[in-house]
Amino acid sequence: MRKKIVAGNWKMNNNETESIQLIQGINEQITGESLDNTRVIVAPSFVNLSASLKASENTPIEVVAQNMHEAKSGAYTGEVSADMLKGLGIKTVIIGHSERRSLFNETDEILAEKLKAAINNGLEAIFCFGEKLEERKLDNHLLEVGSQLRNSLFQLKAEDFKNIILAYEPVWAIGTGETASPEQAQEMHAFVRNVLEKRYGKEVSENTSILYGGSVKPNNAEEIFSKKDVDGGLIGGASLKAEDFSAIIKAI
Ligand code: G3P
Repeated sequence: MRKKIVAGNWKMNNNETESIQLIQGINEQITGESLDNTRVIVAPSFVNLSASLKASENTPIEVVAQNMHEAKSGAYTGEVSADMLKGLGIKTVIIGHSERRSLFNETDEILAEKLKAAINNGLEAIFCFGEKLEERKLDNHLLEVGSQLRNSLFQLKAEDFKNIILAYEPVWAIGTGETASPEQAQEMHAFVRNVLEKRYGKEVSENTSILYGGSVKPNNAEEIFSKKDVDGGLIGGASLKAEDFSAIIKAI
């Protein structure tokens, strides 16, 4: 049975003290909540991973990385490898966030290499994809997402999907307050699940968690999460406040 997941992508926010305080705040707010089939995840910046891992000990909160380089090691100034993340105790990494694609020129091909490196290093990957506003306006959103999945994900074998979480993040909804409607989210999630079934079969399509990301807030989370093929959310802005992020967790 696929897991429900609420993951907070902190992006380039919080210093070490703020990271520790936020994890402590979230933990206080969710203590006593029944989280049986739910995973609670936060993604601090690289420099705060160690302190965050320590702060999350003996809590239900998992700490993951926001990115990783595809190379094993080498002359890549400023980058961080899978092996370095594993050495910290990180088990999961976000790959292909739209900001990595748009601001740091991460192509489908580069993301395919990153996914391969993550899987080969025994890491779980939260793979992000989504269409731009113009693609949605032209009704090309399914075509675009299908292309992103084929170009980056289809190199994987069916058994690799035990370490894959998918995250649909329509670019036009990220940080804009313009949330996709629950129906728009469900349409895309059902499409992605169908693409997975055709390529890998029902075992993979039914057991892969697909998260929605893009202006999820305490006041819209429950309706989005109620959709059949939405297995949770990848939260940006609202994950930076313990009260808001905890309210979204309680909505799953
Ligand atoms: O990765 C999640 C993020 O891109 C969504 O951001 O602020 O729209 O929740 P936000």
